[in-house]
Order: sequence, then structure tokens, then C-alpha cells
Amino acid sequence: MSASFSSRTIEALSGLVFPWVFLNLSASFIPGTIKDIFSTHGFVPGLRIVLSPSRFREVWFGRFWAYVSPNIRMNAGPLVLPLLDGRVSRGRVVEEPTGPGVGGVVLEIGPGSGLWVNLFSDRCLYEEDTSDAAAQKQQGGNTSLQKRANTARSKVTRVYGVEPNASHHAALRRSIEAAGLKDIYEIVPVGIEDLSSSSDTGRKKWEGSIEPESVDCIVSVICLCSIPDPERNIHELYKLLRPGGRWYIYEHVKCDYSWYMRLYQRGINLIWPYLIGGCELCRPTDTTLRETGPWASIDVGQPPIDNPGRTPFIPWYQCLPHRIGVFTK
Ligand SMILES: C[S@@+](CC[C@H](N)C(=O)[O-])C[C@H]1O[C@@H](n2cnc3c(N)ncnc32)[C@H](O)[C@@H]1O
Repeated sequence: MSASFSSRTIEALSGLVFPWVFLNLSASFIPGTIKDIFSTHGFVPGLRIVLSPSRFREVWFGRFWAYVSPNIRMNAGPLVLPLLDGRVSRGRVVEEPTGPGVGGVVLEIGPGSGLWVNLFSDRCLYEEDTSDAAAQKQQGGNTSLQKRANTARSKVTRVYGVEPNASHHAALRRSIEAAGLKDIYEIVPVGIEDLSSSSDTGRKKWEGSIEPESVDCIVSVICLCSIPDPERNIHELYKLLRPGGRWYIYEHVKCDYSWYMRLYQRGINLIWPYLIGGCELCRPTDTTLRETGPWASIDVGQPPIDNPGRTPFIPWYQCLPHRIGVFTK
């Protein structure tokens, strides 16, 4: 048996087993979450949270996601940063921008604990200047910065982070402060379905407002899998985007490459949403976006996996295939 055959077999098996490991990891957070709720809130209020499936799920998912976030950032960071630079085309990261990057008024959907918040900072426009002239200037001890040549971003003037799970808010606030975005980043503490709707008492769930066609960019990173009624809510978001505005996505979607992977994914999805904060595996999110309204251009594809020593490839055993790219209205 050749080394490459055995390493490919191990790779495929780990791809197939990965969702079960992730589910198991999430389930392992249940006892700690219960303990944490009682020690933070006391017995009676704690019991109320533990007995409320939706509130318990929020706290549980908040703790679990904070734990896995650094890994997600490590794996997806090399894709999401170029995406917001305008350097992703047909699912691949390219050297030079092929379209505009993020900028202006931005709607970040489901920012969670703020894993991607620093990407909206002006600091992302700069890199260390390694030229000789800069080195001479640096002898005084100051690092010299220069504007990155490979980005087509413009200044982000306002960000609305639509995050209904209050247990993410403290960490999200810390990420906003650390990125120096306190003055422009607003946490919108409701789901996208409540951006403009009223509650039973006739009061709006969020007092602010976002006018139709007023948003320059929407950014959704691994979150459209978790929103309710995706067709309706994606269309509501589409209406907020201005003509010429861009929707940057990095989302996992339904398997469509073979009947056995479709079946396997559906099988996992019988329990996945209950253990992973309501996330649905089998959503055709890219198709829903394509069909939600007219787009001037769509540049979206499946990112290949980079394998050292081999050409990038799209594996058949991928239970969470992703789509990355930009929809321009
Ligand atoms: C898998 S997490 C991803 C978080 C973040 N984007 C990241 O990459 O770390 C999905 C996020 O979507 C949020 N979410 C769930 N329902 C939502 C809704 N109705 N509107 C907006 N966000 C929602 C969740 O609270 C959660 O923060």
C-alpha cells in the first residue's frame, strides 16, 4: 500500500469522523455550562435558564463557540481576510484584488464573540514597511507602516453587528474595543428577523433602524446556517443593500456532490442543530442568495483545500462544504 494511498485514506476517514468529534466536543460543554449558570445566577434564576431550552442553548453555544473560535480563525482566517480585501475569485484566493473590498456602512451578521471584528479596523489596511528607507527610519525604535498594496478595501465608516445571543455580547464588546472600533461598531442585540419588526406589545425589539438600500456591504461568516426562515430573512437583508453594494459570504452549505455524502450529511443533521446552537448543515445558502433578487454579478465558489506538496483539491468526503465569494447587487 503506497504512502499516499494510506495518507489519503486517513484524510478521508478523518473528514468523515470530524463532525462526530465536533458534536462530542460540544456535548462535553453541557455539565460545565450548568455549573457556570448556577454559580453566576444563583439557584432559582439559574434553574429558570437551565429549564428554558432556548436560553440554555444560547449560553451553552456561547461557551462552546468561545472555545473553538481560535481554531476556526486559524483555519478560515487565510480565506476571510482576502475575501474582505477583494482578493477571492471563483472560490480561490488570488494575488491581486479582482473587485472592491469591504468598506463604508457594513452589516455583520451573527458576529458571535467577535472573531472577525478586527478585520473592519483601518489597521487591516496597513502592514509593516520592510523597505530600506523604512528600516533607517525605524532605527529610532518606531515601527514604520505602509498601506498594503494587495487590498481593495476602503474605510469602514459604520458597522452594525446583528447578534441576538446575549451570551456573546461581553466578548464581542471586548473584541470591538481591542480593534479600536468603539466609535463605529454598534451591537444590534436582536436577530435579523427583528431588525424592523415589532413585538407583541407593539414596541420594536430594537430601537435603531437601518434604511432600505443604505448598506454598502453585508458580511456573513458561518452564520446563515443558524438564522430562522432563511429565504425570507435573506431577502429582508437583500433589501437593505444599496444597488452596487456587496454581500461577502463564507458559509457552509448542503452537500451536492454524491448521493452518499448527501445522505451522510442529512443523517448527521438529525442531531447537529440540537448540539451546535441551531446550525443547519443541509442549507443551499448560496442558491438561496442567488435566487433572492437580481444581482449585477456573482463570484462565488467552493474553496479548495491546500495540501502541502499536492495541488489544492476539493475532497469528496467534505461533510461541511463551504462557499466563499461576493454577490454584487
Ligand atoms: C456559528 S456562529 C458564527 C459566529 C461568527 N460569525 C464566527 O464566525 O465566529 C453563528 C452565529 O449566528 C448567530 N445567529 C443565530 N441566529 C441569528 C439571527 N437570527 N440573526 C443574526 N444572527 C444569528 C448566532 O448567535 C451565532 O453568533
